[in-house]
Amino acid sequence: MIQVRPLGLYVHIPWCVKKCPYCDFNSHQQKGELPETEYISHLLADLKNDLTYIEYEKQPRPITSVFIGGGTPSLFSPEGIATVITSIKNMTNTQDDIEITMEANPGTFEKERFQGFKDAGVNRISIGVQSYDATHLTRLGRIHNDAQAKSAVIHASALGLKSFNTDIMHGLPNQRLEQALDDLRVSIALDSPHISWYQLTIEPNTQFYSQPPTLPDDDILWSIQECGQRLLNDAGYQQYEISAYSKPEHASLHNLNYWRFGDYLGIGCGAHGKITNTEDSTVYRTVKVKHPRGYMDLTRSYRDSLSFVDANDLPFEFFMNKFRLAEACLKTDYEALTGGHRLPSSALAVLSELADKQLIVEDSKSWRMTAKGHRYLNDVLTAFI
Ligand SMILES: C[S@@+](CC[C@H](N)C(=O)[O-])C[C@H]1O[C@@H](n2cnc3c(N)ncnc32)[C@H](O)[C@@H]1O
Ligand code: SF4
Repeated sequence: MIQVRPLGLYVHIPWCVKKCPYCDFNSHQQKGELPETEYISHLLADLKNDLTYIEYEKQPRPITSVFIGGGTPSLFSPEGIATVITSIKNMTNTQDDIEITMEANPGTFEKERFQGFKDAGVNRISIGVQSYDATHLTRLGRIHNDAQAKSAVIHASALGLKSFNTDIMHGLPNQRLEQALDDLRVSIALDSPHISWYQLTIEPNTQFYSQPPTLPDDDILWSIQECGQRLLNDAGYQQYEISAYSKPEHASLHNLNYWRFGDYLGIGCGAHGKITNTEDSTVYRTVKVKHPRGYMDLTRSYRDSLSFVDANDLPFEFFMNKFRLAEACLKTDYEALTGGHRLPSSALAVLSELADKQLIVEDSKSWRMTAKGHRYLNDVLTAFI
C-alpha cells in the first residue's frame, strides 16, 4: 500500500467586519464591498503556481485537508466559497475523505448561509465564540453578543457536519475563575465536539498592547488552567495539543498535520506554506504578500519569500511543533519528516538532558512530553537553539 504523506492547504481570507483589539492576525477591517470575485481569482492563480512545488512527486500528491481561515471567511458568500472548493478539487488530487474547515464569526452566522457553506463542501466549521459572557464579549470588542454566540453553536450542531469547533479564550480582562470555567461549561453543554481553548496573549501592534487591560494575576491564570483542563477531561475531551481538546475522532486533521511537522501549501495574502522535497532533502517555507492590495497587484508575484530551513535549525523547528502534541514523537519521525536528515548528536544530548529533568520521557522508540514539560514548553524548546 502506498503511504500518503499528508498535505494541507491553507486558504487565507483577510477581511473582518471590525478589527478586534487583541488580534494580530493578518486581518483588515472591511471598507465597502468586498472584492470577493477578484480575490478568488487571485487565490486560484496563486494555487496554480504553488502546485509546481509538488510537481516533482511521481504521482500528484493528494491534498488531505483544507482550512479556510482569516480574517472572517464567513463574510464571503456561499457561492464564492463553493467556487473556491470546487476549483481546489478540480485543480488538485483531493482525498475523498478530505476535511474542509472554514472559520466563522458568530456575528456573521445566519442559518441559510451556513447551510450554503455546507452545500459548498465545508464539512467542519470553527466558530470564534471567545466567550459566552456579555461583558467579556464587549471588552473584547466582539461584533456579536452572548445570545448570538450560543445560537451560532446550536446552528452549527444542527447542520450535521463532520465536526465543528468552538474557539474560547481565557485569562480575559478581569476574568474570574468561575467565569472562565462557565465559558467552557456552555461549549460542553452545547456538545461542541472540539474546543480550542487559548489563553489571551497581548501581542505587539494591537490595541491591547498600547492600552493594556487589567488581566487576571498569575494565581488565577494557574487555577483557570488547572481547573479548565480537569473540567474538559471529566467531560470526555482529550487534550491532544497545548490548546486543543476533542472528543474521540474529532481532532482537527489540518492542525494535527502542522504539529506533526507535515507539509502544507498556503494561498492568499500573508499565507505561509512549508514543503519537504524528499529528492534533495530540503525543507522550505513560502510566505505570500501580506497586504490584500499588494497581493492582488498583477505587476508582482503572490510570493513574498521562499526560504530554505537551515539543517542546524531543523531540530528546533521540528520539536517546536511535535512537542506541542500529547502523542509520542517516534524516533524515526525526524528522518522521515525532514526529507532524510539525521538528528544531530547535539540535539540527542539535549533530549537526554530533558529526560533527566523529567520534561520528556524517553523509551526505545519515542520521546513524549510530560505535563511538566508542557508547562515549561518555551524553556524546553530554547534548549534546541
Ligand atoms: C485567526 S482567529 C480567527 C477567528 C475568527 N476571525 C473570529 O475571531 O471569530 C482564530 C482564533 O485565535 C484566537 N486568538 C486570536 N487572537 C488571540 C490572542 N491575542 N490570544 C489568544 N488567542 C487569540 C481566537 O480564539 C480566534 O478565534
Ligand atoms: S474577527 Fe477574528 S480575525 Fe478578525 S480581528 Fe477579530 S479575532 Fe482577528
